[in-house]
Formats: sequence, structure tokens, C-alpha cells
Amino acid sequence: MEEKGSFWWYVTIESKGMEEETLISLVDLSGSMGSELLDTQDKLAVKAYYRSSHALEYWISKINEVLEPWPTLRIIDAGKIENERWHTVWKEAFPPIEVGKALVVMAPWHKDSFEDRKGKSVLLVYPGTAFGTGYHESTQIALELLEKSVNQGDVVADVGTGSGILAIAAVKLGAKKVFARDLDPAVLEEVESNLKLNEIPEDLVEVEQGNLLDGLHELVDLVTANIIFDPLIKLLPSLPSKLKKGGRAVFSGLVKKERDPFISALQEIGFKVLEETTKGDWWGVVAQNTSGGQSENR
Ligand SMILES: C[S@@+](CC[C@H](N)C(=O)[O-])C[C@H]1O[C@@H](n2cnc3c(N)ncnc32)[C@H](O)[C@@H]1O
Repeated sequence: MEEKGSFWWYVTIESKGMEEETLISLVDLSGSMGSELLDTQDKLAVKAYYRSSHALEYWISKINEVLEPWPTLRIIDAGKIENERWHTVWKEAFPPIEVGKALVVMAPWHKDSFEDRKGKSVLLVYPGTAFGTGYHESTQIALELLEKSVNQGDVVADVGTGSGILAIAAVKLGAKKVFARDLDPAVLEEVESNLKLNEIPEDLVEVEQGNLLDGLHELVDLVTANIIFDPLIKLLPSLPSKLKKGGRAVFSGLVKKERDPFISALQEIGFKVLEETTKGDWWGVVAQNTSGGQSENR
């Protein structure tokens, strides 16, 4: 994949009464390639950098999407930087990262230099504009839970696939088929490219644009979804008819304070919580379809 654009966009976001870590995580979630905290007297501000392969308006709409549930955050400045610094440093900004017991995520340029794999599965992800480099805590939670949830031969739906990282992990963990879907058509090319990097046969992962599970006609063993609270809540009612009885769903992208309402929503659709985990402010869960469900493809 070619490096596009000869400049970077920056967007400065200001917050009142928010933890630094949460602010940086939200900025990551919007697709930023890096950020720095600004030294302001009474407020917290972060300057976030975005690649110029998309227009500034695109990034601002992404940021606004992520900031919507956080009324204390606002964009105070945005613009172009000609500074080339980020071009040279960003390749070094993605060292290999071990996740869970069995996975290592790395950018493709580390492939040959990283020898100490200790029998782990390597997930190669090019850090492009799609979310899912492996560095965000919500992705790490999803990967850890996925590692414990994928059974050999599973059929999986990865909702909000972003870079395709969870779909790739599912295949490496033994899934025989993955439906990787995203609302944003812009990510699909990156998913295809990451699948090729990982030498995953074309027919194993079907990549498509789609809202949540709308239009998916397969019955699956496992659903994975690292999005945010509102779309995840909207996804729940469709799950009992798309997941086999006994099938599992891995949810991430939720912050700790969203745990209780999310668990209640899971119980309402007859799902049982199998495991929960946290990292920083983020929370994730594996739940099982104990009610109804289907026994064959529809
Ligand atoms: C936080 S990223 C997760 C990316 C990757 N799966 C990971 O775990 O790192 C969320 C992704 O969900 C997608 N998304 C948001 N709303 C969606 C919806 N209603 N249906 C499908 N995908 C959606 C976004 O475009 C984005 O790529």
C-alpha cells in the first residue's frame, strides 16, 4: 500500500474534566495516527494527527461521531501541517505487540525482523486509515476474548471490521469462514489488502459493506463486534436469529460505565455472560445465546 499525501491534518480537541487516557483513546478511535497533549492551564487539550489520504471534513465527521456521547469535548482548531516529521516517525511507531496468549500483531515491515514468535500466530496489519492497528485497548480486549472464544471450524461474523484485524485473528484461530462487514465502504480495500498480507485464501473471508448484521443470510457460531455503545445496542435484537443456539458473541468498544446497561440489554435478549474483561477505561464481554437460536442456515 502506498503512502498517500504529502502533508498531515491536525485537529485540536479540548476537554473539561476528562482523564488524559480516555481522551487519547477517543482520539485513537477516530482514526488518528498519533496525538500529543498540549500544555494548557486549566483544560486538557490534545492535538491529533490524521492522514491526508482523506479530506479534513471526513476526519472531522469521524471525530464528531466518536465525540457525540461526550458533551464536554469539543473541536477548537483544525488545519494542515506540511511538517514531514510524521512521515518519518510513524513507521517506528508500530512495534510488534503481543496480545493474549497466542497472538502477535505487527506492521508488515517487522515481518522478517521479528523472530521471537514463540509459536504465536502473527497478525500482519498495515496501519492505514481504517481502525484496528492492534494498539487500541478495545481491539486488544476483542482479540483476547476472541482467542478464548473461537472454536475450530467456526463460522464468524465480524461486525465493524475496520482494518479486518479481528477477521484475520478469527481465521488464524481456526474459523473456517468469516463474514467481515463494515458500514464504511472506505475500509473494504484495506481489509482486502490486509487479508492478502496474511496470505488468507480469498474464499475464507467475505468482505462486504453493511450496517450491523443487516442482510447477512448465514447462521454463524460467533459474532465479534468492537464498535461503540449505541450501534452495539442496536445490534442485539438481531442476534438471536443470526447466532446458532449456544453461539457466542464478543463485544468490545464499551467503556466501564456502560457495563451495567449493556449486561441488562444482553439479558433481555436471553444471552448469558460468559466472561468480562477490562483494559484502561474499556470493557468487553463474551455472551452466549442460550435462548431460541436457529439450528440450520436460513
Ligand atoms: C472501533 S472500530 C473497530 C475496528 C476493528 N474491528 C478493531 O477491533 O480494531 C469500529 C468499526 O465499526 C464500523 N461501524 C460503525 N458503525 C457500524 C455499523 N452500524 N455497522 C457496521 N460497522 C459499523 C466503523 O466504520 C469502524 O470501522
